[in-house]
Amino acid sequence: MPSLQFKGKVFVENYHLAVPFHELKPVRSKGMSKKASLHDNLIVEGDNLAGLKALLPTYHGKVKCIYIDPPYNTGNESWAYNDNVNSPMMQDWLGKVVDREDLTRHDKWCCMMLPRLKLLRELLRDDGAIFVSIDDNEVHRLRCLMDEVFGEDNFVATTIWQKIFSPKNTAKYFSEDHDFILVYARSIEKWIPNLLERREQAIKRYKNPGGDSRGKWSSSDLTARNYYSQGTYEVVSPSGRKFKPSLGNYFRVSIEKFHELDRDGRIWWGPNGDSMPRLKRYLSEVKSGVVPQTMWLHSDVGHTQDAKKELLSVLNFGRSEDVFNTVKPTSLIKRILQIATDKDSIVLDSFAGSGTTAHAVLALNKEDGGNRRFVLIECEDYVDSLTAERMRRVVKGIPSAKDESLKAGLGGTFSYFKLGLPMRQESLLDGSNLPSYEKLAGYVFFTATGEEFEPEKIRKETWFIGRSRLYDVFLIYEADVEKLKNMALTLDVARTLPRDQRNKLVFAPTKYLDREFLHRYRIAFQQLPFQIYETIDKLAR
Ligand SMILES: C[S@@+](CC[C@H](N)C(=O)[O-])C[C@H]1O[C@@H](n2cnc3c(N)ncnc32)[C@H](O)[C@@H]1O
Repeated sequence: MPSLQFKGKVFVENYHLAVPFHELKPVRSKGMSKKASLHDNLIVEGDNLAGLKALLPTYHGKVKCIYIDPPYNTGNESWAYNDNVNSPMMQDWLGKVVDREDLTRHDKWCCMMLPRLKLLRELLRDDGAIFVSIDDNEVHRLRCLMDEVFGEDNFVATTIWQKIFSPKNTAKYFSEDHDFILVYARSIEKWIPNLLERREQAIKRYKNPGGDSRGKWSSSDLTARNYYSQGTYEVVSPSGRKFKPSLGNYFRVSIEKFHELDRDGRIWWGPNGDSMPRLKRYLSEVKSGVVPQTMWLHSDVGHTQDAKKELLSVLNFGRSEDVFNTVKPTSLIKRILQIATDKDSIVLDSFAGSGTTAHAVLALNKEDGGNRRFVLIECEDYVDSLTAERMRRVVKGIPSAKDESLKAGLGGTFSYFKLGLPMRQESLLDGSNLPSYEKLAGYVFFTATGEEFEPEKIRKETWFIGRSRLYDVFLIYEADVEKLKNMALTLDVARTLPRDQRNKLVFAPTKYLDREFLHRYRIAFQQLPFQIYETIDKLAR
């Protein structure tokens, strides 16, 4: 397969592996849940490269649907390439706004996207899919990157979203009326899109002239241009007229099948019984939904003006020009969720912007009684005042909203986390900069359980650092390299652990106990520092 080459590629190809795991610190005052939890709806403040990596221990292989809307790299967006890749060329790029004058802007964009796409793939479920909004500035390069990361066989479709409702006559050449949404499955043979509800218009085409006992029906042509060796016969209508397919056309069924259908009342000969026969299709027999199509019209999924109005109605910006510019309509994201999620799916958007994805998740949950969860990451300062504030308001309800369910509030809740400091295994391995007991405790507790760490629960004399839904967690550790060398989960230590029925998760540099003993005492041992990134699911297996 040909692959896309760009400046800096050699430095970023494996960069997602080198990015350190960062702490995720709950900011309870900004969330809506009493107790912050990584298993809640989530808003994560910070760069999405570190953010996605920090989510891996909890969400690896769990996300059913990813929607991202990255910068389109139009040259007017004032984004900067800021990944801390250790190469002089990359360092030279850092922090500089990517504008039209920048001759390397496409290379920078590819460097930014490649490691993020790789991490996103890690987070997807085997039967999950990713949807990426983009326009002509980068669609061809994105397609190559996606082929490389997700595999060209997993390409599903490029959909066209008609984003404006009237052409822009000020356009120099063509009025650009659409964006693209690229769709890739994690694994094409495991991904099954949901059928969409039939539109009212389509249903209206079904009628019942003559009162057919099978109910409403519509009819379709019984001939086609596809060559069919048994499709060239002649039929006679009830009125006695003879019909054959026109030149180059063939009946789609054999003559035996035709007569069988006719006897069964499934052939329509026109109102007077003297027209070319057509096949009747009963509304009660057609699939309850329609397959998703690649053309998404603004009349079905909204346009950019709808999106801005919608955001304005939730957050009172002074003037409409001040509205966050790249906001997407919730109905657009709802369409994606209808195609690609079940009622309990996890949905991830790591370029969250104003939080449309989360809004769509809550709106659809309210509509269909679902329990989908959202995970958002956003790095800009407005993550609290825009992204999270939009959620707070739609959850509680917007009194002035026209939409009744938004007026009443979509319900739900979310936890807000901030990226903390990186945790480096090397510090634990070589003893440099050893984290304090409490800091490491918080880190291992979060990454292993996905639940909020409460430092006041620590009982260091018994190595207890907290209780999760499934485990009591213990950390045998001192921030002192000499002491650490001699620390282990020994028989004496194990006997000090509570003898109750709860499972125990014990982090320590080493252990001197055999498997049977650990099993009897319901202990899952986790070696420091290597296993601090294990997830609870792996342990539970
Ligand atoms: C096009 S906007 C998304 C708009 C969103 N779909 C909506 O409807 O509001 C892209 C967002 O990605 C954010 N972003 C860009 N680079 C990022 C990064 N490295 N980490 C996290 N967020 C990032 C930008 O700050 C911006 O808010």
